[in-house]
Amino acid sequence: MASRVTPERGRNIDVEGAYRVAEERYTAANPESLAQFTRACESLPGGNTRTGMYYAPFPLAMARGEGAYMWDLDGHKYRDYAGDFSAGLYGHTNAVVHAAVREVLADGVTFGSVSAHEERLATQICARVPSIERVRFCNSGTEANIMSLVTANAVTGRSKIMVFEGAYHGGTLSFPPGGSPINVPFDFILAPFNDVEGTSALFDEHGDGLSAILVELVQGAGGCIPGEPEFVALLRERATRHGALLIFDEVMTSRLGPTGRQGALGIIPDMTTLGKYVGGGMTAGAFGGRADIMDRYDPRAKDHFVHNGTFNNNVMTLAGGAAGLEKVFTPEAATALTESGEAFRGRLNALGEKHGLPFQATGSGSLMNIHFITGDIRSHKDLAGRNLTALDLFHLEMIAAGIYITRRGYMALSLALTEEDHDVFVAEADKFLGAYGELIAT
Ligand SMILES: Cc1ncc(COP(=O)(O)O)c(C=O)c1O
Repeated sequence: MASRVTPERGRNIDVEGAYRVAEERYTAANPESLAQFTRACESLPGGNTRTGMYYAPFPLAMARGEGAYMWDLDGHKYRDYAGDFSAGLYGHTNAVVHAAVREVLADGVTFGSVSAHEERLATQICARVPSIERVRFCNSGTEANIMSLVTANAVTGRSKIMVFEGAYHGGTLSFPPGGSPINVPFDFILAPFNDVEGTSALFDEHGDGLSAILVELVQGAGGCIPGEPEFVALLRERATRHGALLIFDEVMTSRLGPTGRQGALGIIPDMTTLGKYVGGGMTAGAFGGRADIMDRYDPRAKDHFVHNGTFNNNVMTLAGGAAGLEKVFTPEAATALTESGEAFRGRLNALGEKHGLPFQATGSGSLMNIHFITGDIRSHKDLAGRNLTALDLFHLEMIAAGIYITRRGYMALSLALTEEDHDVFVAEADKFLGAYGELIAT
Protein backbone atom coordinates (compact mmCIF):
# COMPACT_ATOMS: atom_id res chain seq x y z
CA MET A 1 0.00 0.00 0.00
CA ALA A 2 1.37 3.43 -0.93
CA SER A 3 2.11 5.76 1.93
CA ARG A 4 0.35 9.07 2.16
CA VAL A 5 1.80 12.02 0.29
CA THR A 6 2.83 14.67 2.77
CA PRO A 7 3.16 18.11 1.24
CA GLU A 8 6.71 19.33 1.73
CA ARG A 9 6.90 23.04 2.12
CA GLY A 10 8.59 24.50 -0.94
CA ARG A 11 7.89 21.46 -3.09
CA ASN A 12 4.11 21.25 -3.31
CA ILE A 13 3.53 24.91 -3.76
CA ASP A 14 -0.10 24.50 -4.76
CA VAL A 15 -2.84 21.91 -4.86
CA GLU A 16 -2.00 21.03 -8.50
CA GLY A 17 1.58 20.24 -7.43
CA ALA A 18 0.31 18.09 -4.56
CA TYR A 19 -1.98 16.27 -6.97
CA ARG A 20 0.90 15.56 -9.37
CA VAL A 21 2.93 14.02 -6.54
CA ALA A 22 -0.08 11.91 -5.49
CA GLU A 23 -0.47 10.70 -9.09
CA GLU A 24 3.19 9.65 -9.22
CA ARG A 25 2.78 7.63 -6.02
CA TYR A 26 -0.45 6.11 -7.27
CA THR A 27 1.13 5.06 -10.57
CA ALA A 28 4.10 3.49 -8.81
CA ALA A 29 1.82 1.61 -6.37
CA ASN A 30 -0.52 0.14 -9.01
CA PRO A 31 1.47 -1.49 -11.84
CA GLU A 32 -1.06 -4.29 -12.44
CA SER A 33 -3.98 -1.88 -12.76
CA LEU A 34 -1.89 0.22 -15.15
CA ALA A 35 -1.04 -2.83 -17.27
CA GLN A 36 -4.72 -3.81 -17.32
CA PHE A 37 -5.69 -0.31 -18.41
CA THR A 38 -3.09 -0.32 -21.18
CA ARG A 39 -4.36 -3.66 -22.50
CA ALA A 40 -8.01 -2.54 -22.27
CA CYS A 41 -7.33 0.58 -24.34
CA GLU A 42 -6.59 -1.68 -27.33
CA SER A 43 -10.19 -2.91 -27.56
CA LEU A 44 -12.33 -0.47 -25.54
CA PRO A 45 -12.44 3.31 -26.09
CA GLY A 46 -10.32 4.69 -23.27
CA GLY A 47 -10.15 1.18 -21.84
CA ASN A 48 -13.73 1.66 -20.75
CA THR A 49 -17.32 0.53 -21.18
CA ARG A 50 -18.86 2.71 -18.44
CA THR A 51 -17.54 6.28 -18.58
CA GLY A 52 -17.95 7.00 -14.88
CA MET A 53 -15.48 4.26 -14.04
CA TYR A 54 -12.59 6.23 -15.56
CA TYR A 55 -10.39 8.58 -13.57
CA ALA A 56 -6.90 9.90 -14.11
CA PRO A 57 -4.22 8.71 -14.39
CA PHE A 58 -5.93 5.29 -14.83
CA PRO A 59 -8.57 3.49 -12.80
CA LEU A 60 -7.87 0.71 -10.35
CA ALA A 61 -9.00 -2.66 -11.66
CA MET A 62 -10.79 -4.58 -8.92
CA ALA A 63 -10.20 -8.30 -8.59
CA ARG A 64 -12.61 -9.33 -5.86
CA GLY A 65 -14.86 -8.17 -3.05
CA GLU A 66 -16.00 -9.49 0.30
CA GLY A 67 -18.50 -7.76 2.58
CA ALA A 68 -17.57 -4.08 2.67
CA TYR A 69 -14.11 -4.66 1.18
CA MET A 70 -12.56 -4.90 -2.27
CA TRP A 71 -9.09 -5.94 -3.47
CA ASP A 72 -7.46 -4.58 -6.61
CA LEU A 73 -5.18 -6.39 -9.07
CA ASP A 74 -2.13 -5.23 -7.12
CA GLY A 75 -3.50 -6.81 -3.94
CA HIS A 76 -4.45 -3.62 -2.09
CA LYS A 77 -7.49 -3.84 0.18
CA TYR A 78 -10.11 -1.08 0.28
CA ARG A 79 -13.08 -0.13 2.40
CA ASP A 80 -15.69 0.34 -0.32
CA TYR A 81 -17.49 3.67 0.06
CA ALA A 82 -18.45 3.92 -3.64
CA GLY A 83 -20.93 1.07 -3.23
CA ASP A 84 -21.14 0.73 -7.03
CA PHE A 85 -22.89 4.09 -7.24
CA SER A 86 -25.66 2.72 -4.97
CA ALA A 87 -26.17 -0.66 -6.68
CA GLY A 88 -23.95 -2.30 -4.06
CA LEU A 89 -26.33 -1.84 -1.13
CA TYR A 90 -25.87 -5.41 0.11
CA GLY A 91 -22.07 -5.32 0.05
CA HIS A 92 -20.06 -7.74 -2.06
CA THR A 93 -20.97 -11.12 -0.64
CA ASN A 94 -24.24 -10.94 1.23
CA ALA A 95 -24.96 -14.55 2.26
CA VAL A 96 -28.74 -14.37 1.76
CA VAL A 97 -28.61 -12.76 -1.69
CA HIS A 98 -25.82 -15.05 -2.86
CA ALA A 99 -27.64 -18.15 -1.65
CA ALA A 100 -30.77 -17.07 -3.57
CA VAL A 101 -28.80 -16.54 -6.78
CA ARG A 102 -26.89 -19.81 -6.39
CA GLU A 103 -30.17 -21.63 -5.86
CA VAL A 104 -31.73 -20.37 -9.09
CA LEU A 105 -28.50 -20.88 -11.02
CA ALA A 106 -28.56 -24.53 -10.06
CA ASP A 107 -32.02 -24.87 -11.62
CA GLY A 108 -31.19 -23.20 -14.95
CA VAL A 109 -31.44 -19.55 -15.89
CA THR A 110 -33.34 -18.84 -19.12
CA PHE A 111 -36.74 -20.42 -19.43
CA GLY A 112 -38.50 -18.15 -21.92
CA SER A 113 -41.54 -18.32 -19.64
CA VAL A 114 -42.87 -16.73 -16.48
CA SER A 115 -41.60 -18.09 -13.16
CA ALA A 116 -42.51 -17.62 -9.51
CA HIS A 117 -39.70 -15.12 -9.02
CA GLU A 118 -41.14 -12.02 -10.74
CA GLU A 119 -44.21 -12.09 -8.52
CA ARG A 120 -42.06 -12.26 -5.37
CA LEU A 121 -40.02 -9.17 -6.24
CA ALA A 122 -43.09 -7.33 -7.56
CA THR A 123 -45.00 -8.03 -4.34
CA GLN A 124 -42.16 -6.56 -2.27
CA ILE A 125 -41.96 -3.44 -4.42
CA CYS A 126 -45.72 -2.82 -4.47
CA ALA A 127 -45.85 -3.20 -0.69
CA ARG A 128 -43.08 -0.68 -0.15
CA VAL A 129 -43.28 2.10 -2.74
CA PRO A 130 -46.53 4.02 -2.14
CA SER A 131 -47.07 5.04 -5.79
CA ILE A 132 -46.49 1.58 -7.25
CA GLU A 133 -49.69 -0.44 -7.55
CA ARG A 134 -48.31 -2.44 -10.49
CA VAL A 135 -44.75 -2.82 -11.70
CA ARG A 136 -42.86 -4.06 -14.75
CA PHE A 137 -39.23 -5.07 -14.82
CA CYS A 138 -36.53 -4.20 -17.33
CA ASN A 139 -32.74 -4.24 -17.37
CA SER A 140 -31.51 -0.85 -16.19
CA GLY A 141 -32.53 2.44 -14.66
CA THR A 142 -32.07 4.09 -18.05
CA GLU A 143 -34.50 1.65 -19.64
CA ALA A 144 -36.96 2.13 -16.76
CA ASN A 145 -36.94 5.89 -17.31
CA ILE A 146 -37.32 5.57 -21.07
CA MET A 147 -40.26 3.19 -20.52
CA SER A 148 -41.89 5.59 -18.06
CA LEU A 149 -41.58 8.46 -20.55
CA VAL A 150 -42.96 6.56 -23.55
CA THR A 151 -45.78 5.33 -21.29
CA ALA A 152 -46.58 8.93 -20.32
CA ASN A 153 -46.55 10.04 -23.95
CA ALA A 154 -48.83 7.17 -24.97
CA VAL A 155 -51.26 7.73 -22.08
CA THR A 156 -51.49 11.52 -22.34
CA GLY A 157 -51.17 11.89 -26.12
CA ARG A 158 -48.64 14.68 -25.47
CA SER A 159 -44.90 14.82 -25.98
CA LYS A 160 -43.26 17.55 -23.88
CA ILE A 161 -41.25 16.30 -20.92
CA MET A 162 -40.02 18.52 -18.10
CA VAL A 163 -36.61 17.57 -16.72
CA PHE A 164 -34.19 19.49 -14.52
CA GLU A 165 -30.78 21.08 -14.94
CA GLY A 166 -28.12 18.82 -13.45
CA ALA A 167 -30.33 15.71 -13.59
CA TYR A 168 -29.12 12.23 -14.49
CA HIS A 169 -31.67 9.62 -15.51
CA GLY A 170 -29.31 7.35 -17.44
CA GLY A 171 -26.70 7.21 -20.18
CA THR A 172 -29.12 8.64 -22.75
CA LEU A 173 -31.09 10.88 -20.36
CA SER A 174 -28.41 13.13 -18.95
CA PHE A 175 -28.67 16.88 -18.30
CA PRO A 176 -25.32 18.18 -17.02
CA PRO A 177 -24.25 21.78 -17.61
CA GLY A 178 -23.51 21.95 -21.34
CA GLY A 179 -25.95 19.14 -22.18
CA SER A 180 -25.32 15.75 -23.77
CA PRO A 181 -25.12 14.98 -27.51
CA ILE A 182 -26.28 11.38 -27.04
CA ASN A 183 -29.64 11.85 -25.32
CA VAL A 184 -32.74 10.13 -26.67
CA PRO A 185 -34.63 12.69 -28.79
CA PHE A 186 -37.61 13.50 -26.55
CA ASP A 187 -39.07 17.01 -26.54
CA PHE A 188 -37.46 18.17 -23.28
CA ILE A 189 -38.22 21.33 -21.34
CA LEU A 190 -35.22 21.98 -19.09
CA ALA A 191 -36.23 23.59 -15.78
CA PRO A 192 -34.12 24.91 -12.88
CA PHE A 193 -33.91 22.44 -9.96
CA ASN A 194 -35.15 23.62 -6.55
CA ASP A 195 -36.26 26.91 -8.11
CA VAL A 196 -39.99 27.31 -7.44
CA GLU A 197 -40.30 30.61 -9.27
CA GLY A 198 -38.34 29.62 -12.39
CA THR A 199 -40.07 26.27 -12.68
CA SER A 200 -43.52 27.82 -12.11
CA ALA A 201 -42.88 30.19 -15.02
CA LEU A 202 -42.09 27.20 -17.28
CA PHE A 203 -45.29 25.48 -16.14
CA ASP A 204 -47.22 28.65 -17.05
CA GLU A 205 -45.70 28.53 -20.54
CA HIS A 206 -45.72 24.79 -21.32
CA GLY A 207 -47.93 23.14 -18.68
CA ASP A 208 -50.85 22.13 -20.87
CA GLY A 209 -48.54 20.48 -23.42
CA LEU A 210 -46.63 18.46 -20.84
CA SER A 211 -46.78 14.70 -20.94
CA ALA A 212 -44.57 14.14 -17.91
CA ILE A 213 -42.33 15.68 -15.29
CA LEU A 214 -39.34 13.45 -14.54
CA VAL A 215 -37.38 14.27 -11.40
CA GLU A 216 -34.82 12.77 -9.00
CA LEU A 217 -35.74 13.38 -5.36
CA VAL A 218 -32.03 13.73 -4.64
CA GLN A 219 -30.00 14.68 -7.71
CA GLY A 220 -27.36 11.93 -7.54
CA ALA A 221 -24.84 12.41 -10.34
CA GLY A 222 -25.56 16.14 -10.08
CA GLY A 223 -23.85 16.20 -6.66
CA CYS A 224 -26.26 14.55 -4.20
CA ILE A 225 -28.52 17.57 -3.88
CA PRO A 226 -31.87 16.88 -2.20
CA GLY A 227 -35.03 18.23 -3.80
CA GLU A 228 -36.62 20.60 -1.29
CA PRO A 229 -40.09 19.56 -0.07
CA GLU A 230 -41.80 22.75 -1.30
CA PHE A 231 -40.21 22.27 -4.73
CA VAL A 232 -41.36 18.65 -5.00
CA ALA A 233 -44.82 19.70 -3.75
CA LEU A 234 -44.97 22.29 -6.55
CA LEU A 235 -44.29 19.56 -9.10
CA ARG A 236 -47.09 17.44 -7.66
CA GLU A 237 -49.57 20.30 -7.67
CA ARG A 238 -48.70 21.48 -11.19
CA ALA A 239 -48.69 17.96 -12.68
CA THR A 240 -52.23 17.44 -11.40
CA ARG A 241 -53.35 20.87 -12.56
CA HIS A 242 -52.01 20.37 -16.11
CA GLY A 243 -52.91 16.69 -16.51
CA ALA A 244 -49.27 15.60 -16.84
CA LEU A 245 -47.81 12.51 -15.18
CA LEU A 246 -45.38 13.09 -12.32
CA ILE A 247 -42.57 10.52 -12.46
CA PHE A 248 -40.11 10.12 -9.59
CA ASP A 249 -36.80 8.59 -10.59
CA GLU A 250 -36.07 6.66 -7.39
CA VAL A 251 -33.36 4.54 -9.00
CA MET A 252 -31.03 5.72 -6.25
CA THR A 253 -33.35 7.21 -3.65
CA SER A 254 -35.76 4.33 -3.05
CA ARG A 255 -33.21 3.08 -0.48
CA LEU A 256 -33.74 6.24 1.63
CA GLY A 257 -36.23 4.73 4.06
CA PRO A 258 -38.79 1.94 4.20
CA THR A 259 -41.10 3.57 1.65
CA GLY A 260 -38.51 5.30 -0.51
CA ARG A 261 -37.86 8.99 -0.53
CA GLN A 262 -41.45 9.59 -1.72
CA GLY A 263 -42.78 8.00 1.47
CA ALA A 264 -40.48 10.13 3.61
CA LEU A 265 -41.64 13.30 1.83
CA GLY A 266 -45.27 12.20 1.80
CA ILE A 267 -45.57 13.20 -1.86
CA ILE A 268 -46.84 10.51 -4.19
CA PRO A 269 -46.14 10.58 -7.94
CA ASP A 270 -48.10 8.88 -10.74
CA MET A 271 -45.17 6.67 -11.71
CA THR A 272 -41.83 5.67 -10.16
CA THR A 273 -38.69 4.16 -11.63
CA LEU A 274 -36.27 1.87 -9.80
CA GLY A 275 -32.94 0.18 -10.44
CA LYS A 276 -29.52 -0.30 -8.89
CA TYR A 277 -29.75 -2.36 -5.65
CA VAL A 278 -33.31 -3.53 -6.34
CA GLY A 279 -31.99 -6.63 -8.13
CA GLY A 280 -29.72 -7.56 -5.23
CA GLY A 281 -26.70 -6.36 -7.21
CA MET A 282 -27.67 -8.02 -10.47
CA THR A 283 -28.73 -6.12 -13.61
CA ALA A 284 -32.00 -4.39 -12.71
CA GLY A 285 -34.60 -1.83 -13.66
CA ALA A 286 -38.31 -1.39 -12.92
CA PHE A 287 -41.07 1.07 -13.72
CA GLY A 288 -44.43 1.16 -12.03
CA GLY A 289 -47.25 3.32 -10.81
CA ARG A 290 -50.99 3.78 -10.69
CA ALA A 291 -52.92 0.67 -11.69
CA ASP A 292 -54.94 2.54 -14.33
CA ILE A 293 -51.71 3.56 -16.08
CA MET A 294 -49.78 0.29 -15.68
CA ASP A 295 -52.76 -1.87 -16.61
CA ARG A 296 -52.38 -0.57 -20.14
CA TYR A 297 -49.64 -3.22 -20.23
CA ASP A 298 -52.10 -6.01 -19.39
CA PRO A 299 -51.89 -8.31 -22.44
CA ARG A 300 -55.51 -9.36 -21.88
CA ALA A 301 -56.72 -5.80 -22.49
CA LYS A 302 -57.81 -4.54 -25.88
CA ASP A 303 -55.18 -2.22 -27.46
CA HIS A 304 -52.69 -2.99 -24.74
CA PHE A 305 -49.12 -1.69 -24.93
CA VAL A 306 -46.54 -4.31 -25.86
CA HIS A 307 -43.53 -4.29 -23.58
CA ASN A 308 -41.05 -7.09 -24.20
CA GLY A 309 -37.47 -7.68 -23.16
CA THR A 310 -35.67 -11.00 -23.21
CA PHE A 311 -34.10 -10.48 -19.80
CA ASN A 312 -36.94 -8.54 -18.10
CA ASN A 313 -37.62 -11.58 -15.95
CA ASN A 314 -34.13 -12.98 -15.59
CA VAL A 315 -34.25 -15.20 -12.58
CA MET A 316 -30.98 -14.11 -10.94
CA THR A 317 -32.13 -10.49 -10.62
CA LEU A 318 -35.61 -11.46 -9.49
CA ALA A 319 -34.57 -14.08 -6.94
CA GLY A 320 -31.60 -12.06 -5.60
CA GLY A 321 -33.67 -8.90 -5.41
CA ALA A 322 -36.63 -10.59 -3.73
CA ALA A 323 -34.47 -12.34 -1.13
CA GLY A 324 -32.71 -9.06 -0.38
CA LEU A 325 -35.94 -7.14 0.23
CA GLU A 326 -37.65 -9.97 2.09
CA LYS A 327 -34.82 -10.84 4.48
CA VAL A 328 -32.02 -8.26 4.45
CA PHE A 329 -33.08 -4.74 3.47
CA THR A 330 -36.20 -4.90 5.58
CA PRO A 331 -38.10 -1.69 6.41
CA GLU A 332 -36.23 -1.64 9.77
CA ALA A 333 -32.86 -2.01 8.03
CA ALA A 334 -33.77 0.82 5.63
CA THR A 335 -34.52 3.12 8.56
CA ALA A 336 -31.31 2.18 10.37
CA LEU A 337 -29.12 2.70 7.28
CA THR A 338 -30.68 6.11 6.66
CA GLU A 339 -30.01 7.17 10.25
CA SER A 340 -26.45 5.87 10.18
CA GLY A 341 -25.81 7.73 6.90
CA GLU A 342 -27.16 10.97 8.34
CA ALA A 343 -24.87 10.65 11.37
CA PHE A 344 -21.83 9.86 9.21
CA ARG A 345 -22.48 12.84 6.92
CA GLY A 346 -22.86 15.02 10.01
CA ARG A 347 -19.38 13.94 11.14
CA LEU A 348 -17.90 14.83 7.73
CA ASN A 349 -19.49 18.26 7.82
CA ALA A 350 -18.15 18.79 11.33
CA LEU A 351 -14.64 18.21 9.93
CA GLY A 352 -15.02 21.07 7.46
CA GLU A 353 -16.07 23.32 10.32
CA LYS A 354 -13.27 22.12 12.62
CA HIS A 355 -10.59 22.90 10.03
CA GLY A 356 -12.33 26.06 8.78
CA LEU A 357 -11.98 24.70 5.23
CA PRO A 358 -14.25 24.55 2.17
CA PHE A 359 -15.17 20.91 2.72
CA GLN A 360 -18.73 19.60 3.04
CA ALA A 361 -20.89 16.59 2.31
CA THR A 362 -24.32 17.03 0.73
CA GLY A 363 -26.91 14.27 0.44
CA SER A 364 -29.52 12.32 2.29
CA GLY A 365 -29.26 9.15 4.37
CA SER A 366 -26.83 6.66 2.87
CA LEU A 367 -26.21 8.74 -0.28
CA MET A 368 -23.74 11.61 -0.10
CA ASN A 369 -21.18 13.65 -2.01
CA ILE A 370 -18.11 15.50 -0.78
CA HIS A 371 -17.54 18.96 -2.24
CA PHE A 372 -14.63 21.33 -1.71
CA ILE A 373 -16.66 24.52 -1.49
CA THR A 374 -18.44 26.53 1.21
CA GLY A 375 -22.01 27.81 1.22
CA ASP A 376 -25.43 26.28 0.64
CA ILE A 377 -25.69 23.85 -2.28
CA ARG A 378 -29.24 23.84 -3.66
CA SER A 379 -28.53 23.24 -7.35
CA HIS A 380 -25.63 22.51 -9.70
CA LYS A 381 -25.14 26.27 -10.08
CA ASP A 382 -23.92 26.40 -6.47
CA LEU A 383 -21.13 23.95 -7.37
CA ALA A 384 -19.65 26.15 -10.09
CA GLY A 385 -16.75 27.37 -7.95
CA ARG A 386 -15.82 24.09 -6.25
CA ASN A 387 -12.18 23.05 -6.08
CA LEU A 388 -12.07 19.98 -8.31
CA THR A 389 -8.29 19.54 -8.00
CA ALA A 390 -8.66 19.30 -4.23
CA LEU A 391 -11.33 16.64 -4.80
CA ASP A 392 -9.03 14.72 -7.19
CA LEU A 393 -6.27 14.89 -4.59
CA PHE A 394 -8.66 13.73 -1.85
CA HIS A 395 -9.70 10.81 -4.04
CA LEU A 396 -6.14 9.57 -4.59
CA GLU A 397 -5.20 10.15 -0.96
CA MET A 398 -8.19 8.23 0.35
CA ILE A 399 -7.27 5.40 -2.03
CA ALA A 400 -3.72 5.47 -0.65
CA ALA A 401 -5.29 5.18 2.81
CA GLY A 402 -7.30 2.10 1.72
CA ILE A 403 -10.65 3.86 1.26
CA TYR A 404 -12.38 3.62 -2.11
CA ILE A 405 -14.63 6.53 -3.08
CA THR A 406 -15.66 7.78 -6.52
CA ARG A 407 -13.61 10.45 -8.26
CA ARG A 408 -16.49 12.90 -8.10
CA GLY A 409 -16.76 12.49 -4.34
CA TYR A 410 -20.01 10.53 -4.46
CA MET A 411 -20.50 7.78 -1.89
CA ALA A 412 -23.26 5.21 -1.33
CA LEU A 413 -23.04 3.36 1.98
CA SER A 414 -23.63 -0.37 1.94
CA LEU A 415 -25.21 -2.47 4.66
CA ALA A 416 -21.82 -4.16 5.11
CA LEU A 417 -20.03 -1.02 6.35
CA THR A 418 -19.73 -0.65 10.13
CA GLU A 419 -19.36 2.25 12.54
CA GLU A 420 -15.71 1.23 12.85
CA ASP A 421 -15.28 1.73 9.09
CA HIS A 422 -16.83 5.18 9.46
CA ASP A 423 -14.40 5.99 12.30
CA VAL A 424 -11.48 5.11 10.01
CA PHE A 425 -12.95 7.19 7.18
CA VAL A 426 -13.46 10.23 9.41
CA ALA A 427 -9.92 9.90 10.85
CA GLU A 428 -8.39 9.72 7.35
CA ALA A 429 -10.42 12.69 6.09
CA ASP A 430 -9.35 14.60 9.22
CA LYS A 431 -5.69 13.78 8.45
CA PHE A 432 -6.12 14.89 4.85
CA LEU A 433 -7.58 18.24 5.87
CA GLY A 434 -4.82 18.68 8.44
CA ALA A 435 -2.08 17.87 5.90
CA TYR A 436 -3.41 19.87 2.96
CA GLY A 437 -5.47 22.56 4.66
CA GLU A 438 -3.15 25.41 3.69
CA LEU A 439 -3.26 24.41 0.02
CA ILE A 440 -7.01 23.97 -0.04
CA ALA A 441 -7.84 27.16 1.83
CA THR A 442 -6.17 29.33 -0.81
C1 LIG B 1 -31.09 8.64 -10.61
C2 LIG B 1 -30.65 7.68 -11.67
N1 LIG B 1 -31.52 7.34 -12.62
C3 LIG B 1 -31.19 6.45 -13.57
C4 LIG B 1 -29.93 5.90 -13.63
C5 LIG B 1 -29.59 4.94 -14.71
O1 LIG B 1 -29.53 3.65 -14.24
P1 LIG B 1 -28.69 2.54 -15.05
O2 LIG B 1 -27.25 2.91 -14.90
O3 LIG B 1 -29.06 1.25 -14.41
O4 LIG B 1 -29.13 2.62 -16.47
C6 LIG B 1 -29.00 6.23 -12.65
C7 LIG B 1 -27.65 5.63 -12.67
O5 LIG B 1 -26.71 6.11 -12.07
C8 LIG B 1 -29.36 7.16 -11.65
O6 LIG B 1 -28.50 7.53 -10.70
